[in-house]
Amino acid sequence: MRKAVRPLKREMRQSRRPERTISGCVRPPEELEPRSEAIRTSVDMFHVFMFHVPSVFSLLFLVFRVIAVEEGNSTECDSLKEIQNKVTSLWENWMPPQSSKADSDGNYYATCELRPSKKLDANELAVTGHVLFKQNYPIGKLEVIFEVDGFPTEDNHTLRAIHIHEFGDLSDGCDSTAGHYNPFGVHHPRHPGDFGNFDTSSGKIRKRKGNLQATLFGPYSVLGRSIVVHKYEDDLGKGGNQASIENGNAGKRLACCVIGLCSKTMWEKVSPVYSETKLERSSRRVKGIEGKISKKRGAALRN
Ligand SMILES: *[C@@H]1O[C@H](CO)[C@@H](O)[C@H](O)[C@H]1NC(C)=O
Repeated sequence: MRKAVRPLKREMRQSRRPERTISGCVRPPEELEPRSEAIRTSVDMFHVFMFHVPSVFSLLFLVFRVIAVEEGNSTECDSLKEIQNKVTSLWENWMPPQSSKADSDGNYYATCELRPSKKLDANELAVTGHVLFKQNYPIGKLEVIFEVDGFPTEDNHTLRAIHIHEFGDLSDGCDSTAGHYNPFGVHHPRHPGDFGNFDTSSGKIRKRKGNLQATLFGPYSVLGRSIVVHKYEDDLGKGGNQASIENGNAGKRLACCVIGLCSKTMWEKVSPVYSETKLERSSRRVKGIEGKISKKRGAALRN
């Protein structure tokens, strides 16, 4: 019984559904009928002119509409394709850089191989090393490892500034990298590549930083830009002059490099040392909290 009722109901629904027409553009035919009888007198000519001419025009309009709609199917299709292409290109702009073989862990790696600036005097420090990048696509925070050599061992624990500069152009040594990469037009030290000061120990910088503002993805990607190691300490915008809010008065550009994509090999080779220190740091924090708790407990027991 129910099976028989269902198709019937569907039929009824379908019959109630309005036909997809474009008749909205034309007057209903019953309005045409009485006026076609009245084309006899000159007065009626007025009516002809007033009512029938527009009717004819609207009929013509209808005919052209029908033709246009039939052709329109292809133009509609074209415009849909156009929209699809636009969306695709937008989407592709936001995609991460594609490698031939995607890393299974969803991380992207980059490196920057530091070379002394060719604009330096022969007696200047020859700073080398590399800066390694790791970031999980798409919302992971950038992690960076700095391994820089060539500072004088006698100046133990002097601070040196490291920043990301706008261009990856080393044609004129580190001078052609322009100023700090500053996509948001803010003052130093709020640029995404303002890594700040690095302690040198026995002529080396060994440092891992995480949760950084700079990114390898999207419109503000630092890929293809440069890293510059400076001779002096960064005043972090507190120098009281224009240069301070632009570059932190960090002095000469000792070494620079261009940031480029790489495999995870180097990061995996280098990072274990730093992971340990990170673990140590977090375990120290836990121990510190435990220490405080046990001190409180001890105090409570004594009281
Ligand atoms: C620099 O300081 C570190 C300790 O912070 C020490 O281990 C190292 O031997 C010092 N290097 C020189 C060259 O004095």
